[in-house]
Amino acid sequence: MNMINHKQFLIVSSMLSIFFSNVLHASDLKSGYEYLTPATQEMQDDEFANPGMTAVEEGRTEFHRLGVNDKTCATCHGENGSKFNLKKIASYPVYNKEYEKPFTLQEQINFCGEEYLDNVPYVYDCTDLVELEAYVRHLARGEKVNVNITGALKPFYEKGKKLYNKRFGQMNMACAVCHDQFAGQRLRGQVLSQGHSNGFPLYRLGSGKMTSLHGRMEECFRSFRAEPFDRGSDELINLELYLHSRGNGLPIETPAIRY
Ligand code: HEC
Ligand code: HEC
Repeated sequence: MNMINHKQFLIVSSMLSIFFSNVLHASDLKSGYEYLTPATQEMQDDEFANPGMTAVEEGRTEFHRLGVNDKTCATCHGENGSKFNLKKIASYPVYNKEYEKPFTLQEQINFCGEEYLDNVPYVYDCTDLVELEAYVRHLARGEKVNVNITGALKPFYEKGKKLYNKRFGQMNMACAVCHDQFAGQRLRGQVLSQGHSNGFPLYRLGSGKMTSLHGRMEECFRSFRAEPFDRGSDELINLELYLHSRGNGLPIETPAIRY
């Protein structure tokens, strides 16, 4: 990622220490897709040209691989995930009663692997887990993100929202400064998007690699010289919850392509 012009941001953020609202209305929601060139949009839409499909295929293999107890994910969720309720996938993170916290898709997948296949749990955001997540989300491609934050998730959503608006690091930056106030503006050759989560895990043209949502957030924290939270931490999970619900109504694009 391009280095951010430090001075430019200090000036801009001090100029804008005014109150701002970060409520996005459905009609104003813009997926990162809308900021891509037509050629890149075409590449994303074409499953044969989309380089992120390699990770989806790896996830498919993993989904059908025998676990320690000789079952597979497909034993319960059907061949090629045919028994999944795609709307349910689009509703993650959901509240998990047993753990009394939000469960991201990665946590659910990891829970299923450990509980129902007797597998050793994965480390959050490791390659296998990101590929399984990419596979599952890809099944729900086109389904609209629909996270319900009215119930037990509400306090976690509020924490995520607070973090999103909190200023961090030497540069005194917040997610909201770049992705709400300056969305659509050009910053050293990059157009800032609204910072939505509907394309993750996604393929990056710059690195030639898949990027998870927590990986992207880590990169953003580093870009404004703040110490990132650990992947899978409560903080990033609350931020993930906030981002998904903030993008409610956007179609799932996994695997999206971004720069
Ligand atoms: C023994 C049956 C079983 C196996 C095997 C299993 N799961 Fe699940 N899975 C479940 C159940 C039951 C739920 C519903 C959890 C809930 O509603 O709290 C679930 C939920 C999910 C969800 C959330 C969407 C939904 O339909 O609720 C995903 C994604 C998922 N599993 C993926 C996987 C993956 C990937 C594997 C293999 C690593 C796997 N599961 C293995 C039983 C299973
Ligand atoms: C200094 C500006 C800046 C700040 C502050 C910032 N980001 Fe970003 N972010 C970027 C840039 C640049 C990109 C890549 C282009 C784009 O999508 O905006 C990006 C991309 C993203 C994306 C991917 C969007 C997509 O469609 O692929 C997400 C999600 C995101 N940021 C979340 C966050 C979160 C959460 C925070 C706060 C922890 C944050 N960002 C803070 C600059 C910033």
